[in-house]
Amino acid sequence: MAERLRCAVIGTGAIGLEHLKSLARCPQATLVAIAEKDAKRCKEAADAYRVPRSYTDYREVLDQPDIDAVTIALPNYLHAPVCIEALQARKHVLLEKPMATKLKDAIKIVETAKKMKRTVMVGQHLRFGRHTQIAKDFIDRSQIGEVYHLRAFWLRRSGIPRIGSWFTQKQFSGGGCMVDLGVHLLDTCFHLLNDFDVKTVSAQLHSKLGPKGIGNFDWGKSDIDPQKPFDVEDCGIALIKLRKGSSILLDVSWAAYHPPQGREHGIDILGTSGGLSLFPARLFRDGPNGYESIELDAPKLPHSEDRSHHFVSCVLQGKKPLVTLEESLKVQQVLDAIFVSSSTGKEVKLG
Ligand SMILES: NC(=O)c1ccc[n+]([C@@H]2O[C@H](COP(=O)([O-])OP(=O)(O)OC[C@H]3O[C@@H](n4cnc5c(N)ncnc54)[C@H](O)[C@@H]3O)[C@@H](O)[C@H]2O)c1
Repeated sequence: MAERLRCAVIGTGAIGLEHLKSLARCPQATLVAIAEKDAKRCKEAADAYRVPRSYTDYREVLDQPDIDAVTIALPNYLHAPVCIEALQARKHVLLEKPMATKLKDAIKIVETAKKMKRTVMVGQHLRFGRHTQIAKDFIDRSQIGEVYHLRAFWLRRSGIPRIGSWFTQKQFSGGGCMVDLGVHLLDTCFHLLNDFDVKTVSAQLHSKLGPKGIGNFDWGKSDIDPQKPFDVEDCGIALIKLRKGSSILLDVSWAAYHPPQGREHGIDILGTSGGLSLFPARLFRDGPNGYESIELDAPKLPHSEDRSHHFVSCVLQGKKPLVTLEESLKVQQVLDAIFVSSSTGKEVKLG
């Protein structure tokens, strides 16, 4: 086993910089190269993280045989094509969410990864969070009995990542808040349930405030053009029923007139002998003196809290990552069904 993984980051926008920061302090990784099409951002990132090689064309990174792995932090429409090219160039891939903008492209990633015998992990960072890990451990040790329902929400009042950027154009993003925020919650809910086997999906998406220019949030580095049409959802709900009987209610918005108080995002988990809520992790149960609400903590977590460090260590040790590609494909299937259900007005059955 090699001692260090030689890594590159493709795309050094808002989240690409986070990946650079985390790889730069990873004891098992050597940060070798970056690719960023904006020459100014490329140079700034290379200087800030002292990356020896930097390019404005990502193919120059893929052409280098001494690079083992790439992190792809590009706009969503580039995830599948660049991931597939990277796999064909024999690189392992840490891929930003969502896996792809279309289900058929996600399937192609899975096929190519298998063929090239390379690891791909979708960077679902919520799974690595301290409180998710604590809750998952609690559930796995049957501490709240049978888990039968999860209520997951991410309710931004004014959180559209830059109206007029690629985020708000369907051809580049694949969707709005469901693809951006819902994907994290879906992945985390299935992971907590230990069950990705969905029977039906019923959803309703709305696009009410974004098209009027309401709800902007200054996130991201890419160019904006406010004249471009806003053609994605800024709010949506979904009811997901799993084959074994549990259910998930998903409620997501980038922008909406919500009440000002309360958690912006969280998951409430109902079990037959107790409940949990995230974030942070709290336990609710009947105690000797009435209903108890206890903040949970753990001295040691099963996984690193840093998804990049986890990915690097899995590749070096030849282990399956916490987020498997098969699981991410299931999440993509559900996202796809959410869009079909909303546009047809019907419940979608998954095979
Ligand atoms: N896990 C998370 O919490 C999280 C948070 C935000 C964004 N993301 C995901 O990360 C990805 C990037 O989002 P962002 O917020 O950093 O967007 P961004 O617009 O800030 O950055 C994208 C970068 O990619 C560069 N780029 C575009 N085309 C390129 C090409 N062909 N070659 C090289 N570089 C190119 C752009 O110039 C830009 O710097 C998205 O998929 C998004 O969904 C994840």
